[in-house]
Amino acid sequence: MAAEKVYRASTTAPVNIAVVKYWGKRDAKLNLPTNSSLSVTLSQSDLRTLTTASCSASYPASEGDSLILNGEAADVAGARTQACFRELRARRAALEAADPSLPKLSVLPVRLVSENNFPTAAGLASSAAGFAALVRAIADLYELPASPSELSLIARQGSGSACRSLFGGYVAWRMGDAADGSDSLADQVAEASHWPEMRAVVLVVSAAKKGVSSTSGMQQTVATSGLFQERITNVVPRNMEAMEKAIKERDFAAFAEVTMRDSNSFHATCADTYPPIFYMNDVSRAAIRAVEAINTAAGRTVAAYTFDAGPNAVIYYLEKETEAVVGTLYRTLGEIDGWKAVTTQSLNSSVSLDEGI
Ligand code: ADP
Ligand code: DP6
Ligand code: CO
Repeated sequence: MAAEKVYRASTTAPVNIAVVKYWGKRDAKLNLPTNSSLSVTLSQSDLRTLTTASCSASYPASEGDSLILNGEAADVAGARTQACFRELRARRAALEAADPSLPKLSVLPVRLVSENNFPTAAGLASSAAGFAALVRAIADLYELPASPSELSLIARQGSGSACRSLFGGYVAWRMGDAADGSDSLADQVAEASHWPEMRAVVLVVSAAKKGVSSTSGMQQTVATSGLFQERITNVVPRNMEAMEKAIKERDFAAFAEVTMRDSNSFHATCADTYPPIFYMNDVSRAAIRAVEAINTAAGRTVAAYTFDAGPNAVIYYLEKETEAVVGTLYRTLGEIDGWKAVTTQSLNSSVSLDEGI
C-alpha cells in the first residue's frame, strides 16, 4: 500500500485574564453568556497552549477523533468539543465541494496533541488558551480562510472565555442577542500597543485542579444566587462601560478599581450560590491584602488583583511600578509557603495572535 500523506498544523494560543468576568450562561447548548466580558491577553512567553492537529487516510476510520492533553488521552466526545469539530468540518467540506481537486480531509479522523505549559483547570484560563489553540490548529490544518472573528465564534462554543484568546491586547466578548449565537463573539477594544506599559504578575498559589469546574460553577450560580441578578443587570453593564473608557484613556486607577470590584463581585456571587462555592483560599486573601498595602503605601492605585475560578491571583500594574508592586509582593508574601510568581509582558503587539509555527 502506498504511504498515505499525513497533513499537519501546529499553533500556540495565549491565556487571557478577564477584568470584567464572564460568569453565567443564558444558553448552555450554544454556550451563550448572560453578560458581556472584557479581558487582557497575556503574552505567550510564559503561559500558552501548544496544539498540533493532524489527519491522514492512514489513520483508521474506527479510531475517530482523539486528543492527547498533557501526555494523557482526553475526552473529545463532549458536546462542546464536538460542536467545534462540526463547525470546522462543515467549513472544510464546503471548500472541498467548491473545489473537487482539494483532498477530502473533512471525512478523516483528526488527532490532536496539546500541551499547556501552566496548570490545567486551576483557574488560569486553560480552557481559553486550550480551545483557542484547538480551533486554530484545525482551521490551519483545513486551510480555512477564516478570520479571527469567525474562529472566535467557533472557539466560544468550546469554552466561552476561549473566544477572547483569538485576539491580542484588550478584548471584549459581546454577549449578543441573536438566538442562534451568531453575534456572540469577541472583538478587540484596543491594540496592545495602545497601552504597552501594562504588565501582569501571576501568583501561582496552587496548581491543583479546581473542585468545581467553571462550567458547573456558573450553572449553580445562575440557578441559585439572588445576587447574580443584580450583577448581570447593573454591575457588569456599568463595569463594561467604565472599563472601556479606562482603557481608551489609559487611566490605570480607573482600570484597577473596576478590575478589583468586578473580581470581588464575581466571587460574591459564588459565595451567594447555594451551596456556596469558594475559589479563593487564605493565600488568595493574603494577596488581596498585599495589593491593598501596596496601593496605600504608594498613595495611589498602582496594582490591581483579579481572580478567576481558582485561588491563583493575577495582578496588573504598569511597567514603571515593577519594583513597588512585584518587589513588595515578594517581600510581603515571602513567608508564605507554596506560591511562585510568573511575571509576564502582558501584551502581545499583533491584532491577531496567529503565530503559526
Ligand atoms: P480553567 O480555569 O483552567 O480554564 P476550566 O474548568 O474552565 O478551567 O476548564 C478546564 C478544562 O478545559 C479541562 O478540564 C479540559 O477539558 C479543557 N482544556 C484545558 N486545556 C486544554 C487544551 N490544551 N486543549 C483542549 N482542552 C483543554
Ligand atoms: C471566571 O470560559 O472556563 O474565568 O464556557 O463553561 O468553558 P465555559 O467557562 P469558562 O469560564 C471562565 C470564567 C472566568 C471568567 C472569564 O474568563 O471571563
Ligand atoms: Co476556563
